[in-house]
Parts: sequence; structure tokens; C-alpha cells
Amino acid sequence: MTSSSPRPPPHNSTVPSTCHPALSSPRPRVVALLDAAELSLSLRHLARREERYFTGTFMPSLSSTAVYRTLSYLDVHEPNHAPLKKLLFFLLSSRRQSVIPEFRRTFGDLFLGLESEIAKRGKADFGEANDQAAFNFLARSLLGKDPLESKLGSDGPKLVTKWVLVQLGPLLTLGLPSLLEDLVLHSVRLPAALVKSDYDKLAAFFRDSSGPVLDEAERLGISREEAVHNLLFTICFNAFGGMKFLFPGLVKWVGRAGARLHGKLAEEIVRSNGGEVTMRAMEEMPLMKSVVYEAMRIEPPVPLQYGRARRDFVVESHDAGFEIRAGELLFGYQPFATKDPRVFERAEEFVGDRFVGEGERLLKHVLWSNGPETESPTTSNKQCAGKDFVLLVARMLVVELFMRYDSFDIEVGSGPLGSSVKLTSLKRASF
Ligand code: HEM
Repeated sequence: MTSSSPRPPPHNSTVPSTCHPALSSPRPRVVALLDAAELSLSLRHLARREERYFTGTFMPSLSSTAVYRTLSYLDVHEPNHAPLKKLLFFLLSSRRQSVIPEFRRTFGDLFLGLESEIAKRGKADFGEANDQAAFNFLARSLLGKDPLESKLGSDGPKLVTKWVLVQLGPLLTLGLPSLLEDLVLHSVRLPAALVKSDYDKLAAFFRDSSGPVLDEAERLGISREEAVHNLLFTICFNAFGGMKFLFPGLVKWVGRAGARLHGKLAEEIVRSNGGEVTMRAMEEMPLMKSVVYEAMRIEPPVPLQYGRARRDFVVESHDAGFEIRAGELLFGYQPFATKDPRVFERAEEFVGDRFVGEGERLLKHVLWSNGPETESPTTSNKQCAGKDFVLLVARMLVVELFMRYDSFDIEVGSGPLGSSVKLTSLKRASF
């Protein structure tokens, strides 16, 4: 399978062997894990012993991250994994007071911009506006720096998108004829030189903006320069890259769910928050929380995970056991597990209140963070370091939407980088 959206295998086997991607990796054989039982179990056994598993059998050129292997590419047993992950936990906790106010400021402006675009042209592209808002929000909230007041100006999202494309080229499907895509995109590692000057501009911004985090890095035994490149990678690739997929996906699923769900969300959100957006108020919004989990279940923003088996073990699927040998590269495509009809009723449908009340017991099968939703990232696992932050910002997007509007309409297309969503109306809140 060379595309980023694999098809289920023939013969009902949920543990087939396959190749990925076609020509750009030296040992393309991988074992795919396709049902919920297999995937949740195996995530605990997976390790990264070589650097290439973050992006599957393909490893982008190291010079695209200035020669440092950043946290995402490190196995938990490598000496730098724990200190680098600690540094990110420090960053997230030391900046937590800024997250809600900076989100409201930045995404408040985004919605004002979208409203005026709809008034002028009848529709507004969510993705483009979201890219700009996400980058500005991440820099303002996590670094305390406004890119618009730096040399970067509004170029950040463009520079990052190009840099990410060069790293992920062999894994993307752009919709060109498949022979052409295999030849041009999947067969070669795109040279990092294509984006060197863009990367240098981003690195300069991070070097100038990360002072207090760099002091903490030194305390943890990480050089300031290594910390700069890790912060850049996390904020630009993990966080910005994640929000680039997650937010349009969320708007798409909530948008498609229609006015009835919108009305219930607006009522819950406006009633519970009493005009203020706080973590505590958001905890008291079961439907809003469920809608966010459901969007992440039905379309996990980062669907592919890879890892090499640390030791021999047996993967239990719903129906059988399969022996996996130490050293085999395993590959999980989350939607096969998170839309497994034996775990989730009406698995292909977006059911907004799926995780309300009793439904919470299903959260252990929600895997977007590279682990069950009921578990937490630690320095000894590979679960997303930003798991809580991601949930918080996704919840805030829904809250911000329904504090402002009773309902909205969308047009959806698809592109190589996820859903393309255009807003065609935003109906102002009547509460
Ligand atoms: C916005 C949506 C996000 C999604 C969907 C997401 C998803 C993921 C996934 C699936 C992984 C595992 C990748 C793998 O190893 O195969 C991961 C790892 C990671 N994520 Fe996130 N992430 C998001 C945002 C963030 C944010 C905001 C941060 C930090 C500010 C972050 C930091 C990390 C780090 C550092 C790792 C590597 C963890 C380790 O190696 O132990 N992510 N993320």
C-alpha cells in the first residue's frame, strides 16, 4: 500500500503483510494491524529502534532538521527521549495560563475575518485562515512571541507547509495519475536543500523567542541549539501540522451533523459557561466533549503509526492470534480500529453524543494520540506529548464557534493535506 488511505485487505485477514512506501525505502516490508483489539494492544509493544519509524519505512533527510534527530524519531530507550519530552511538558505547563486568552484572541479574529469574507464573496476558506491563526496562536501562547511582529511576518505557515511537504512527500497522495505520483513523489527523497533557507528563517525565529525554555533545556542537559530544533519541530510539525488536519476535520464533521446538533451544542455551551471560557466550565459540557472525541475517532488527524516489535509476541485480533517476531515493522492505520463495527455501533456514522455518560467507557478505543484516550503521555511512552493541549484547543474551537453562532453551513472538498472546508454561512447567536 503506497497511499495514505489504505484499503482493507482481502480474505478478511486483519494482519496482512504489505509494502510502504513503494520505492523510497530500503526495507519496505511492514505488517499491518487492522482491528481495534490488535491496535490498542500492539501500541504498548511498539518501539522505535531506528530513526525512521515516525514516518514509516521512509526517513526524511536529517538535514531538514539541522542534523538533530528530534524527539518524534527517538525510541523511548534512547537517552535523549526522556529529557526532551520533559522539556515539552515544562513548556506546556509553564505557558498554560496563556493558552485560553491567546486562543480566544486569535481565533476570535479568525471568525471576524471569515464573517467579512462570507459577506463579500458568499463563502470563506477555513483552511487558509486556520493555518495563519494556528501558527500565530501557537507562537503567542507557547513562546509569548507574536510572529506578525517579527521578521517572519505572516510567512510562518507557508514556510512550515513547504518544509513538511519535503519531509512527507513520499507518503502523500496528491491525486495525480498513480504512475506519475510513484515516480515523482514516492520514489525519491526530496532534497532538504529545497527548504534550507525557509528552515533557517524559522530556526532564527525560534532561537530569538525561546529564551526561558532554553534555560530549562540546559538544566536538563540538552544543548540550547538542540532544544531550538526540537521546539521548532514540535511546534511546527507536531502541533501546527496536527491543527492543520484536526481543525478543518472538526469543522467538517460538526458542520455536516446539521442544525439539530448545533442547537444542542449552542445551548450547552452558552448555558454552562456563564459568559466565561474556563477549563472547569468546559469540563461541564458533556456533549461538546463527546463531539470532539467523536471527530477524532471517525477521522484521526494522524492516522498512520509505525513501530518495530521489541520482542516476539502474539497479537490478539477479535478472532485469532498472530505471532509477531522481534524486529518486524508493524503498521497501524487507526481508522480500521476506531471504526471497527465490533466495538462501535454505527461505526461509520458521526454520532455526536457517542461518548456521553455510559459512552465514556468507549474512550479507551479512541487512539488519535498514539495510545488509548484513557492513558497519558509519559517520558517512557510514545504517546503525544501535547495530548491535553490538543483536547483543550479542540474543545475551545467548538466553544468559540457556538458562543458566536447558533449554526453554520459548509462546503467540503478533499485535498492532499486533509479536508478542504469552506464556510458558506455563520448564523449569529440568538442567545
Ligand atoms: C493537534 C493535533 C495533534 C495530533 C493529532 C497529534 C498526534 C500525535 C501522534 C499520532 C503522535 C505519535 C506519532 C508516532 O510516533 O507515530 C504524536 C507524537 C508527538 N506529539 Fe502530537 N499531535 C498533535 C499535537 C501536538 C502538540 C500540540 C504537541 C506539543 C505541543 C505535540 C507533541 C508531540 C510530541 C513531542 C510527540 C512525540 C512523543 C514521543 O516521542 O514520546 N503534538 N502526536
